Amino acid sequence: MPNPTPPTNGDETESLKRCIKRSSHLWDEMQKQPSQFRVLTGERTTGALHIGHYFSSLKSRVKLQGWSVEMFLILADYQAITDRKSTESLKSSIKDIILDYLAVGIDPQKATIFCHSMVPSLNQLLLPFLSVVSMSELQRNPTVKDEIALLGTRSVSGLMMTYPVHQAADILYCKGNVVPGGKDQLPHVELTRSIARRINNDYFHGEPFFPEPELLLGDGPILLGLDGRKMGKSLNNSIQIKMSADETAQLIKKAKTDSNKTITYDPVQRPEVANLLMMYSLCTGADPAAIANQIGSQGSSVLKKELTEVINDYFQPMRERRKRYEQDGSFVWEILKQGNIKANQIADKTLNDLRAAMHMQYY
Ligand code: TRP
Repeated sequence: MPNPTPPTNGDETESLKRCIKRSSHLWDEMQKQPSQFRVLTGERTTGALHIGHYFSSLKSRVKLQGWSVEMFLILADYQAITDRKSTESLKSSIKDIILDYLAVGIDPQKATIFCHSMVPSLNQLLLPFLSVVSMSELQRNPTVKDEIALLGTRSVSGLMMTYPVHQAADILYCKGNVVPGGKDQLPHVELTRSIARRINNDYFHGEPFFPEPELLLGDGPILLGLDGRKMGKSLNNSIQIKMSADETAQLIKKAKTDSNKTITYDPVQRPEVANLLMMYSLCTGADPAAIANQIGSQGSSVLKKELTEVINDYFQPMRERRKRYEQDGSFVWEILKQGNIKANQIADKTLNDLRAAMHMQYY
């Protein structure tokens, strides 16, 4: 199978266009020379992962793992509290995500799984990094602006404004040079590149102490939620990897369609139906337009019935594997502990080297 070219919708900015082009080359380079790359990616710990995560990112992580690319996965618990006060669900979210990782085939012997709150030296990198970033850079980050808009009238935390710099620390502490993620991560990766360049210039005579990482776009299309909105962990509109076959059926039954009885594949005019066809296509490899043709006048009830079956078939082995891992309560925490130990060793070394370069080793 050829490596992916990410889907486009024709209104990309220049830097996104460059990134899309570069991304498909990167995929090829990583396959040919896996040892040249260190991948860092991860997620906010806001809940269990859904099939949108699977097709847009988890699946490609397993592919990179298969090529023996070194991989670090951050469970960004401090980033989970940029827009909320409660921390009660962090622990169960972390457990869910690690179980999801195991279910989809991420191997903790190969990938380092760690979290923000247990790696102090990573967090300390935030301070020198903040010193090379301007307020206006923080204020014009388009992804942060979108997230602030979602807050409505709620106040904006300082952590919300600075988390992209924290994310630069996530990536640079281990000198990650490839960051798999969606388009929304591009401003953060560009900021990370600027920080790396500035620190290298200011404290390392322009030598590449930090790499300038690149965003690696995934191959999957972005799935919508079952209500037609963006699929979100906290929006209750997604099929989670861990759901049972029955829960999946219930959710798909309630999925939004439209008043046209015949099934056609028309992503512009009929986004909700097209989204269901896309899920069908991802699970079976069949072309979405061909699936639409085949179902045609049998309408949305047949589409939903078949979609339920193909999704449940596709995820059944992963769900079974997840169940087996769930039974051993301490396994997940042992994985996190080992990952944190390794992350701490690397972060301590990076921070020490940087402090030495900054004339901050006093005795
Ligand atoms: N911002 C990412 C998200 O919202 C999560 C994340 C935190 C991340 N740190 C990262 C992703 C570093 C890539 C690299 O999903």
